[in-house]
Amino acid sequence: MSTKKRVLEILESGKGKNISGEFLADTLKVSRNTVWKAINELRNDGYSILAVTNKGYCFSDRNDILSAEGIRPFLLSGDYADIIHVYKSLESTNKAAKEMAVSGAQHGTVIISDYQTGGRGRYSRGFFSPPGCGLYVSFILHANAIAFTNPTAITAYAALCVCEAIENTCDMQTSIKWVNDIFLKGKKICGILTEAITEFESQSIGEIILGIGINVSTRPEDFPETIREIAGSLYPDGNPSVSRNRLAAEIINRILFSDMPKETELFARYKKRLFMLGTNITVIQGKHEYTAKALDIDEQGHLIVQTADGSRNVLSSGEITIRTPD
Ligand code: BTN
Repeated sequence: MSTKKRVLEILESGKGKNISGEFLADTLKVSRNTVWKAINELRNDGYSILAVTNKGYCFSDRNDILSAEGIRPFLLSGDYADIIHVYKSLESTNKAAKEMAVSGAQHGTVIISDYQTGGRGRYSRGFFSPPGCGLYVSFILHANAIAFTNPTAITAYAALCVCEAIENTCDMQTSIKWVNDIFLKGKKICGILTEAITEFESQSIGEIILGIGINVSTRPEDFPETIREIAGSLYPDGNPSVSRNRLAAEIINRILFSDMPKETELFARYKKRLFMLGTNITVIQGKHEYTAKALDIDEQGHLIVQTADGSRNVLSSGEITIRTPD
């Protein structure tokens, strides 16, 4: 790793504190001049680093540039530290993850981008992914290395991990719209796209690409008009008090380094966050739309609804979208 990256990792883990040039030089076994050069390179990259006389360098806690070095200090395990790939721009982190998975990337590889030029959503929709204010992350999960085989469970688990990560780092209570949209104060702040790579011969799932897009500090006026009514962000005033690196690490810790619960426990925890049970919803199945009451989810995460004539339908995530009342 370059000196610049090593300096960055130390500064990121001591945000807001004074760290002396001498400490950095001793820790990294380089000269003070080399440290000084690295600091200047980081400043040129856009980091705010104050030089405080006789005290050292102070890395502003307002720095919010995504990097593997900024994520690493918060990870629960060092084992995966080298498989976090952070980019300034990608067409889509899910697309990049798929390409890497096909080329043999290991389980737990994480791909993050500051922005996406062609972010993908469910049902071939796009996902608005501007620079500097969102977290766009994809995980490569090997099917044989995770506890769930049911695709709804993987998506539900991801939604739960994101809600819990937001609660832990940002102290905000989010809720879930079945199956995997995350809402805060009535606005969608996160979407999840899970895709599978199947092996042609055996028709079995080889890798799962789990893509998560969070609007962190997008201001309402910055969303395209078409989604302004429904889309929101964690910090709509544009001033996040938590860095995207910190939030990314928390999500990575939950998805990769926590014990996955049994499906029954998973769906019990997931159900507590569902905000639509007991309400009337519109079920959209291809060109067919109908109104129904959302009753419950079953042990596989399917949504049980009751139609106007009293009959019950069990909905699986792959086939339908739902609209909740405004
Ligand atoms: C949806 O709401 O329809 C799902 C949106 C998923 C967006 C994320 S952003 C990271 C990953 N890369 C993509 O291109 N899409 C997912």
